[in-house]
Amino acid sequence: MKVYIASDHAGFELKKAIKEHFTNQFEWTDFGTDSSESVDYPDYAHPLAEAVAADNDSRAILICGTGNGVAITANKHADVRAALCWNKEIAALARQHNNANVVVLPARFISQEDAFAVVETFFSTDFEGGRHARRVEKINLH
Ligand code: RB5
Repeated sequence: MKVYIASDHAGFELKKAIKEHFTNQFEWTDFGTDSSESVDYPDYAHPLAEAVAADNDSRAILICGTGNGVAITANKHADVRAALCWNKEIAALARQHNNANVVVLPARFISQEDAFAVVETFFSTDFEGGRHARRVEKINLH
């Protein structure tokens, strides 16, 4: 499965760990950043969100210190549903109820073990559809 991934400096180490841990499951397209040197998170979240918006079936991972900066940025793009997830229960619900296509991790507030569990759950859980499909249909403003 092809997966887009990006982080700012605060998420760089977790991004690296996730790429290594899931190396056999996913084919990565990495939008950066490439070090722990300070950068501006929208410069990485916007290009990833553009790629997700252009491909209905795509999935992605975004990481910054709190997760909020990249989530707020990505959700400016129509058809991008970026969900901040800090445990696997929330990750499952983000897929089941919100059909989230981007999982967002708060690198400074989640253990590596929990982050791996969130990613595992996010990518193995299906959207439930039904009443949730009606609600998701109402998200976009256009
Ligand atoms: C960077 O220091 C930090 O502000 C950023 O990673 C993120 O948490 C912003 O929302």
